[in-house]
Amino acid sequence: MNHLLGIDIGTSGTKAVLIKPDGAVTATATFEYPLSHPHPLWAEQDPEAWWEATVKSIRAVLEKAGISADSDSIAAVGLTGQMHGLVMLDRSGKVLRPAILWNDQRTAAQCAAITERVGEKRLLELTGNPVLPGFTAPKILWVRENEPEIYQRCDKILLPKDYIRYRLSGEFLGDVSDASGTSLFDVARRQWSGDMLDALELPRARLPEITESTAASAAVSADAARATGLREGTPIAAGGGDQAAGAVGTGMVAEGMVSVTLGTSGVVFAPSSSYRFSPEGNLHAFCHAVPGQWHLMGVMLSAAGSFRWFRDTLGREEMEAARSSGRDAYDLLTAGAGRAPAGCDGLLFLPYLSGERTPHPDPEARGVFFGLTLRHNKDHLTRAVLEGVTHGLRDSLDLMKTIGLRATRARASGGGAKSAFWLRMLADMFGMEIVTVNGAEGAPYGAALLAGVAAGVYESVPDACETTLTVSPPVQPDPHAQRVYEDYHARHAALYPALKKEFQAIARLEETHRNNS
Ligand code: XUL
Repeated sequence: MNHLLGIDIGTSGTKAVLIKPDGAVTATATFEYPLSHPHPLWAEQDPEAWWEATVKSIRAVLEKAGISADSDSIAAVGLTGQMHGLVMLDRSGKVLRPAILWNDQRTAAQCAAITERVGEKRLLELTGNPVLPGFTAPKILWVRENEPEIYQRCDKILLPKDYIRYRLSGEFLGDVSDASGTSLFDVARRQWSGDMLDALELPRARLPEITESTAASAAVSADAARATGLREGTPIAAGGGDQAAGAVGTGMVAEGMVSVTLGTSGVVFAPSSSYRFSPEGNLHAFCHAVPGQWHLMGVMLSAAGSFRWFRDTLGREEMEAARSSGRDAYDLLTAGAGRAPAGCDGLLFLPYLSGERTPHPDPEARGVFFGLTLRHNKDHLTRAVLEGVTHGLRDSLDLMKTIGLRATRARASGGGAKSAFWLRMLADMFGMEIVTVNGAEGAPYGAALLAGVAAGVYESVPDACETTLTVSPPVQPDPHAQRVYEDYHARHAALYPALKKEFQAIARLEETHRNNS
């Protein structure tokens, strides 16, 4: 009874991570599945594919670890996964249609209708967040309006990881962190919002019971035991949405800390010991997977994705040099960026290459190089991209400060955090020391820690993190660079409001010419 298993129902695949109580990773396995886009704005997946990948990944880690079927070596299982997705089941538990995912954008009309019906201010009061196209409630309304026969037959509504719990245990259950992203959850009180359900005329009976993330709320059924090789009765922790569980996996479990994930998108995540929300609704305010805590979150759509775009379009030379020298094109580009000074001699970059979510929820926002002069060269352009992304992340931190959240220490993860240059820039821009966490496996690792708390292996989530995680030596901010970035940050912040109308105008113009060609 000594291993803990975390399972992540991700967008590209299911990943299982098996750990020992000291945090050492025994085995990992990932099985992928396709994402389908039946229409340009749609994103769907087959829940059966999640289940098949889950079964395979569990079997694979058990085999790699030499754990025989039905053995009692697994103390508990923890679940995490992509948030916001809609799974609809009929009375017999059969999936009624493909799941509609977090990145599906079909529900603009339903979001507008919900906001109109409930009122913008009341919506924020009830759920802590504006209703966004990715969230679950507008998806339910879309099905009710466009596929009424499916809506009629729908008996249960589940989020992706909770569908897998249903397959593993036969139970309909969810957790507070994932439920926070539905627009139907009273984030302050950590329960379904009766007012939202009434306003949208959605029956409460279709939703699962919700518990804190560390509750051992279900257990592996005899059927699932046969399918996966897990022992019947193995406890299943409620677990959490991928952002909250990922934060547990990097030790982001107490107010005063902030984490930055530099993946394709960028996430700034801060635990909060009291319920706070942004009155403008431009930060996500969700329950944390740590019982009794909340978190604030800003999501930037093109973070390391902006740097990748730059490498692919203007970094051909570096890509070629990398191929012949065995070095990394990103390292060659950042070495160049290091030759330009902090502040880039007045060159700024707005990283809105695929629109933006935080701090400007605007699908029409665009990328911009601003302030070019004859003095600027490619090294300046490279540095401006990295600085622009980092300014954008700092925007989320600034928003958190305006509602009273004080963070003094930062942790970074994701592909971009492997760059010492970018880490230093983050420390300077945030004005705080920054560390990285050892060999983090992200959300499934966090889910395994939540399973450990559910099974009584750890006393609490902070205890689990303290027992298992080690951090790198801190990178300290440099006072000179900090001052330079402070000055330029104000100019960066002024650009979006100045350009907002032009972004809209250029989008209309592009549309007209595309339709005419
Ligand atoms: C969180 C979010 C993503 C998805 C998919 O709000 O949209 O993190 O959960 O990973």
